[in-house]
Amino acid sequence: MKRRDAIKIAAMAALAITSVNAYDAKLITNTKDMLVKDPTNPTDFELKHSPEITVSQADAKGFVLVEVNIGQKSVIHPSVANHWIYEIELFGDDKKIATVALEPVTSRGYLAARVDTKNIKQLTAVSKCNLHGIFTTTRSI
Ligand SMILES: [Fe+2]
Repeated sequence: MKRRDAIKIAAMAALAITSVNAYDAKLITNTKDMLVKDPTNPTDFELKHSPEITVSQADAKGFVLVEVNIGQKSVIHPSVANHWIYEIELFGDDKKIATVALEPVTSRGYLAARVDTKNIKQLTAVSKCNLHGIFTTTRSI
């Protein structure tokens, strides 16, 4: 094996170790579906965990920009080492459109996708907090 090949293999192995070195799954301690008790008057805790779905104008190919922020009304969920949004899913009616997996500290709860919404009646976003469970928001389009 040439020295150059050995260096490439070592670099790839280091990269593989780095990508495996994600958060510890044991930090996910709550996977219960949570409900906002009074949707007309959500608490700050509920706002902080609830997805906010925004839909923008379509591009030249007819795909609209769908953005999901966690949470609502500028009450943003934290992203610290032991408390963060680890995954967001976006559905059009009952069909999955997109998923994003997030690391603590370096990213916060946000997903964006260009979506062909011609045959979709409603969007649903699912927010997964490692400590506080799973919150869902649905809106018509
Ligand atoms: Fe949380």
